[in-house]
Amino acid sequence: MDKLFIHGGQPLRGQITISGSKNAALPIMAASLLTEEPLRLRNLPKLADIASMRSLLEQHGVVTTPVHAVAEQSAGADLQAERILSTTAPYEIVRKMRASVLVLGPLLARAGKATVSLPGGCAIGTRPIDLHLMGLERLGAEISFNDGYVHAAAPNGLRGAEIVFPSISVGATENLLMAASLAQGETRLINVAREPEIVDLAHCLQAMGADIEGAGSDRIRVRGKERLHGAEHRIIPDRIEAGTYAMAAAITDGELELLDARESDLLFVIETLERCGVKVTPTNRGLQVRRANGRLAAADMTTSEFPGFPTDLQAQFMAMMSTAEGVSHIEEHIFENRFMHVPELTRMGAQIATQGACATVTGCETLRGAPVMATDLRASVSLVLAGLAAEGRTELNRVYHLDRGYERLEEKLGACGAQIERVPA
Ligand code: UD1
Repeated sequence: MDKLFIHGGQPLRGQITISGSKNAALPIMAASLLTEEPLRLRNLPKLADIASMRSLLEQHGVVTTPVHAVAEQSAGADLQAERILSTTAPYEIVRKMRASVLVLGPLLARAGKATVSLPGGCAIGTRPIDLHLMGLERLGAEISFNDGYVHAAAPNGLRGAEIVFPSISVGATENLLMAASLAQGETRLINVAREPEIVDLAHCLQAMGADIEGAGSDRIRVRGKERLHGAEHRIIPDRIEAGTYAMAAAITDGELELLDARESDLLFVIETLERCGVKVTPTNRGLQVRRANGRLAAADMTTSEFPGFPTDLQAQFMAMMSTAEGVSHIEEHIFENRFMHVPELTRMGAQIATQGACATVTGCETLRGAPVMATDLRASVSLVLAGLAAEGRTELNRVYHLDRGYERLEEKLGACGAQIERVPA
């Protein structure tokens, strides 16, 4: 397994282009199952999770063809599901990537049935799919379980309904949005996720002919169509990647311009960073980030659904607070067990005490490089941030987690002065 070696202490300076959003791209790729015509996607990030979704879709019958546009760094692809060859999402792929469950809604809507392996437990908690299944049942699907698989069937098609979610789920909102687009009649989804990735999916579905109103609010109305058609769609920039590099600028006392980063997707993150003494200024190409003056200041933070502070930036924020002046309280309200980075940060000299969903971080002047490893994507990148700020060398193991969500991480950071090197196993 590859390792990363980081020699810390270099302030990062320069520009980083933010890639297409992984979490927007995954459901949008799954939406290609809804039509027999090609869906042309632009600004697809080159990531392991995107490759996993492509493999999953290909075995369902989607033909993917790369599209290279001149003057565009990012990748594009045509995805065409002329015929659905299989309605089963096998354990081998779902186990690797939980977002595989996003094929459930589209397969059920288009083919009338779907069999998807249950994702099971994962590093950041149990992460059930009960909300996805409740919603699809309300649309008329019959759900049963067998051998670790969920079997969903709607032999006479799905029918629009009113669905009130007892709690907010990004994935369930996406599955239901896709399924309802091909259901008979009107669906009202209430208490849905409002993340920018939901809005991006809705825009893509609209370009495919879907009739959707309200995406980005807590209520969405979908008037089902008999069929959807092909379309072209550009994936939004990754707000989590942008937030991560903003914190990299802050923790190293550097200055980065994040090209393509969108202020509107990061309002609460920017507000929180500003409380810590970080200055974020919109430019005509993105966002400029640097410290306002001197050492970072401690600030409290609680994760919540959009527009609140994203759970996917909590670990990075904790790394940053480890070097801030004062004590900060960080609460994780979206996922149980999302503090796996704490013991590793502690090994680098961070002072963190946890109690349930709350971490108390007492900032210290310097972190020290150490061999570390992490068990999920965002925890891994928080260790990269800590390593960039630490004295001495950090050896990060299990780099494959980073490859799931950060495109060309060491290249992007290296171009801004980071001493970071990947060593193949
Ligand atoms: C998505 C993101 C992930 C992010 C998360 C929260 C993708 C591919 N992944 O994950 O990066 O951290 O949103 O912003 O977009 N829950 C249930 N029952 C369900 C579904 C969810 O109880 O049926 C719970 C989960 O366990 C969790 C909470 O709801 O505690 C939020 O999960 P959800 O919004 O569904 O996250 P994902 O869509 O899996």
